[in-house]
Amino acid sequence: MTDLKERIAAQLTAVRDRSLGYTAAEDDLLVRQHSPLMSPLVWDLAHVGNYEELWVLRAAAGITPLRPEIDDIYDAFKTPRRDRPALPFLRPAEARDYIGGVRGRVLDVLDAVDFADPDPLRRDGFVFGLVIQHEHQHDETMLATLQLAGRPGVVRDGDLPPGLSAGPEEVYVPAGEFLMGTDSLPWAYDNERPAHRVDLPAYWIDRLPVGNAAYAAFIEDGGYHDARWWTPEGWRWRQENGVFAPLFWTRDGGAWWRTRFGRPEPVPMDEPVQHVCWYEADAYARWAGKRLPSEAEWEKACGWDAAAGRARPYPWGEQDPTPELANLGHRAARPAPLGAYPGGASPYGAEQMVGDVWEWTATWFDGYPGFRAFPYREYSEVFFGKEYRVLRGGSWAADPAAVRTTFRNWDYPIRRQIFTGFRCARTATPEER
Ligand SMILES: [Fe+2]
Repeated sequence: MTDLKERIAAQLTAVRDRSLGYTAAEDDLLVRQHSPLMSPLVWDLAHVGNYEELWVLRAAAGITPLRPEIDDIYDAFKTPRRDRPALPFLRPAEARDYIGGVRGRVLDVLDAVDFADPDPLRRDGFVFGLVIQHEHQHDETMLATLQLAGRPGVVRDGDLPPGLSAGPEEVYVPAGEFLMGTDSLPWAYDNERPAHRVDLPAYWIDRLPVGNAAYAAFIEDGGYHDARWWTPEGWRWRQENGVFAPLFWTRDGGAWWRTRFGRPEPVPMDEPVQHVCWYEADAYARWAGKRLPSEAEWEKACGWDAAAGRARPYPWGEQDPTPELANLGHRAARPAPLGAYPGGASPYGAEQMVGDVWEWTATWFDGYPGFRAFPYREYSEVFFGKEYRVLRGGSWAADPAAVRTTFRNWDYPIRRQIFTGFRCARTATPEER
């Protein structure tokens, strides 16, 4: 086997071990719906196997369908999440059998495939990258479900580095062009392509994500009760839902508590805030005299190496993420303290851009100039428009295989069960330029 084949096989095994680990629970937990926002866990589990069957076995290798009768059940477009409990989805034992059977054939295809094949699914192992990243994304979704279900003990609570780095509150990004997106990363999705030049005026961006202490100050300053910080849609959302703090936060006497995988604990004031929706992030930024960064501002601050005239795949450079550089890959069930990764800083000095929390940006999800849907319109294109806001950088529950400078995630501006925070930005004044 080539190095790439070995790497793919190892990644397929690693992600599957994690998926099976998160669903190693009593059947009742797996078939029940814990929130109308989420699928039953066993739906996610069999859906990743079905996706693998559709793309690796059928589309890339031309293998006859194994279970065509279940395709509709696992088509995310046919049934919205709230209606999935009523589907005749495979029960846990059958689901594990099915995905195991698919996986065995996928490994046979991997063994035989030629990565130099001009077919764009097979070339450079794209289709394997597709299913590996897809399964990682569903593992993160399963964790959001388990957090909503209040299920303790699912993620190991490993050690994270202490919050050490000192530095300025904001870092400066001078005016100028940078290269956004990619033409060269072989496993990048269609929505990250093509690479294109974007010219930005000078701006400042927070060195670190907004922390719980700063967010608590916004709450205590009456931020949730003052319409002037909110957009009209955001204010309506806040009033209709009676929201006064991030999801999973409660007030006990004078202190903030949060529930993390079923366990109450004092809110650690030195961590990035998590479980806030776009409306909350946007309101906080206005209260702080700033705004959310555009997606382009976020990406330039994360990966542009102006001295070299090129974009980095990670803020720190080419090297794959390690525990010293970023909090990714479910090492602990929480974001790391602010300032925990000075070695992971970007060329402009921004820290914790990758890992810890997904970061909301001001930008609606849309195609880049010259966008071409691949391998199917439903991956990205059908979500383009003014409905979803772009999230960047990946959370502690994202895997290194599905995070990079150019990676784009998107969600409704009301979503808060995802592992999401933000940082602020502001346009440089003429005197600062
Ligand atoms: Fe999916």
